[in-house]
Amino acid sequence: MSETQLQPAYRILTHRLLIRCWDPADAPLVERAVQANLEHLRPWMPWINQEPEPLEEKIARLRRFRSQFDRDESYIYGIFNPEETRVLGGTGLHPRTGPGGIEIGYWIDKDFINRGLATETSVALIKVAFEIHKVRRVEIHCDPHNIRSAAVPRKLGFIHEATLRQRLTDGAGGWADEMFWTLFEEDYPKSPAYTTEIQAFDAAGRRLI
Ligand SMILES: CC(C)(COP(=O)(O)OP(=O)(O)OC[C@H]1O[C@@H](n2cnc3c(N)ncnc32)[C@H](O)[C@@H]1OP(=O)(O)O)[C@@H](O)C(=O)NCCC(=O)NCCS
Repeated sequence: MSETQLQPAYRILTHRLLIRCWDPADAPLVERAVQANLEHLRPWMPWINQEPEPLEEKIARLRRFRSQFDRDESYIYGIFNPEETRVLGGTGLHPRTGPGGIEIGYWIDKDFINRGLATETSVALIKVAFEIHKVRRVEIHCDPHNIRSAAVPRKLGFIHEATLRQRLTDGAGGWADEMFWTLFEEDYPKSPAYTTEIQAFDAAGRRLI
């Protein structure tokens, strides 16, 4: 699909979540969420080592995320409660896995884990990836030690294709192996994502899904 035809999903509603394109005005909510999750995220998310940082840096980062989204370079989303008063995590659709592919990443606030929210988020982004971006495959990558993360693609019908050695940097400056999980378009109808209902809206608020 050409860039002029593509209408990215700026706003997605799931059963319990609002997932939307970041806005620089979200910086204080992001700061609060990240500060509360430093040790939860440190083993798995190397960007946590930028903390602590001034609010201005967060504003600048959210502006970059927003401009990457608007330019169709990378679709980085905030995960909010429906009232948009709290950041519950972050996610994204990253076209960095080669032709035809898109990668989903995620993190969830420690106070909300083990309730299926990463799974609910991934279901929504899988639908957006196949039904709006028309990708051939969706990938999820994670450290094999990250049991909670690996459980998400496993539940959603992804195939574990390989574990590559020492491909990730961990938050402690070391190296970690990387599992590659893939869902191809022909297997999407067999995934629980296929039948789950979401609402996705374009930049003008028009319903896409
Ligand atoms: C990984 C992460 C996003 C998962 O979020 P979550 O909302 O808890 O995920 P879900 O609830 O949708 O699914 C987690 C699954 O792991 C399972 N799980 C949790 N702890 C487990 C354990 N010790 N052993 C085995 N399974 C476990 C849960 O039971 C659940 O599976 P189920 O629904 O079949 O019961 C969250 O823990 C997180 O943010 N971690 C830190 C950042 C991170 O690792 N991001 C991913 C980088 S690849």
